[in-house]
Amino acid sequence: MFVLAHVSDLHLASRPRPVELVGKRGLGFINWQRKRKFIHRPEIADDIVRDLKGLAPDHIAMTGDLVNLSLDDEYRRARAWLETLGSPRDVTVVPGNHDVYVRAAVPSSAAYWAEYMCGDDGRERFPFVRRRGNVALVALSTAVPTGPFMATGRLGEQQLTGLARALDETRGHFRIVLIHHPPLSPPKRFMRRLTDAAGLRRVLAEHGAELLIHGHDHRRALVWLDGPNGSKIPAAGVPSVSARVPHGGEDGAGYTIFRIDGGAPAWRCEMIARQRMDDGTILEAGRQLLQ
Ligand SMILES: [Fe+2]
Repeated sequence: MFVLAHVSDLHLASRPRPVELVGKRGLGFINWQRKRKFIHRPEIADDIVRDLKGLAPDHIAMTGDLVNLSLDDEYRRARAWLETLGSPRDVTVVPGNHDVYVRAAVPSSAAYWAEYMCGDDGRERFPFVRRRGNVALVALSTAVPTGPFMATGRLGEQQLTGLARALDETRGHFRIVLIHHPPLSPPKRFMRRLTDAAGLRRVLAEHGAELLIHGHDHRRALVWLDGPNGSKIPAAGVPSVSARVPHGGEDGAGYTIFRIDGGAPAWRCEMIARQRMDDGTILEAGRQLLQ
């Protein structure tokens, strides 16, 4: 039995210095002050982490948006938060759009979180692969800087080719794809979609995977993607780990546990939703057998 915990979208925010408020960060800061700072609370994430650690998972996946405006201070605090989750060996991170909010921030997240964002071979290039027993974590980055009011993501041809290879090389493992953006977005999320999601779905349909997990939408979701030979691949989205209350179609804080058992081709994977209630308690909110 391998137990994976999935968290996402911490949105840790620091107060920017005036010089850091130009361009997209300025708009993002206004949005934060008016709305988001009342939603994403670090103490809520602390409650979730306490509950999660109580279940002693074998590994933890964090699918991006650890920070809010990609400020150095946010990266540093997010690193400290990751250390409360576990060691880089036991925690795998993929970045989200807020982790490379502006072009200047691109190298910084990599510098602070490198040990959490590299493969077993030590390479800090996406996609990277981590094997833990008979589970293979295949990590993608959709994080690209975008213009104001945009929150799109992109993989690019090089990562899609690398993904196909990684999925082939880990065949026989329980292959879990980690990605920030969902592989399918409704039309109203056009400005927040993964722009080459069709390319991702094509690779998955040809090369297969046992599970895909994502964040970004701040809500619990499950869709079934086409896999090879008529098979289906579950793609599960998780709420934000820090959301104090449900807000504008987004869920309150929660996380997901996957209990993986068996072996290829007869895997068993159970998905357990853990959700924070209004009174602050965290309870099981649903259980579903995916395989
Ligand atoms: Fe996001």
